[in-house]
Amino acid sequence: MPTRLTWLGHSAFLVEMGAHRLLIDPFLTGNPQANMSPDDVQVDFVLVTHGHGDHLGDTVAIAQRTGATVISNYEIITYLSSHHGITKVSPQHLGGLVHYPWGSLKLTPAMHGSSLPDGSYGGNPAGLLLRRDGATVYHAGDTGLFGDMALIGEEGIDVALLPVGDRFTMGPSDALRALRLLRPNVVIPMHYNTFDGIAQDIAPWADEVTRTGLAMPVLLSPGQSYAVN
Ligand code: NI
Ligand code: MN
Repeated sequence: MPTRLTWLGHSAFLVEMGAHRLLIDPFLTGNPQANMSPDDVQVDFVLVTHGHGDHLGDTVAIAQRTGATVISNYEIITYLSSHHGITKVSPQHLGGLVHYPWGSLKLTPAMHGSSLPDGSYGGNPAGLLLRRDGATVYHAGDTGLFGDMALIGEEGIDVALLPVGDRFTMGPSDALRALRLLRPNVVIPMHYNTFDGIAQDIAPWADEVTRTGLAMPVLLSPGQSYAVN
């Protein structure tokens, strides 16, 4: 059964794995690229890379309405429990792997910040390594380039979801360097063109990825999907 990734704009992805539906970084309200309302979405898991508002997004409302299990680092899970009464949770932290009904998730390091919307401490930001039969997907979260991406690359990545918007994360040229370390089969860029400050002309970057043979670039429009295996 294929794993389907649907880009909802920015760093938000719907991941469909058989009967399971996961939402990563569900920034829908206030996201000009999102074509999905937090009032309609039906998911059983919500995964949050870090505490910034453009990633935590509608997590609270979606979890309260759907009863989805929220997965994030210990600090963010503690905040969601104590401030918002979210009780269906699975706390993890960097380097730790947990098995779920749909596969496994390991949190990986990210070089960024992670304060929560009210200024609460959000712990270290993370990337997400999702693995299920025939599909390993790496969502980098918000991050700059770091050398230990080579260690993540050793996991054998099918699809890498990489920020390319610059200013707050890697830009296009560092994302090319990241591909040399991560060595995924496919790369899908994210965290660009949501706002003026992270506008990128992505087509030349995709051409460069193809020309160098580092990976196969897949450019999604918000709402479009890519099937892994
Ligand atoms: Ni951020
Ligand atoms: Mn961000």
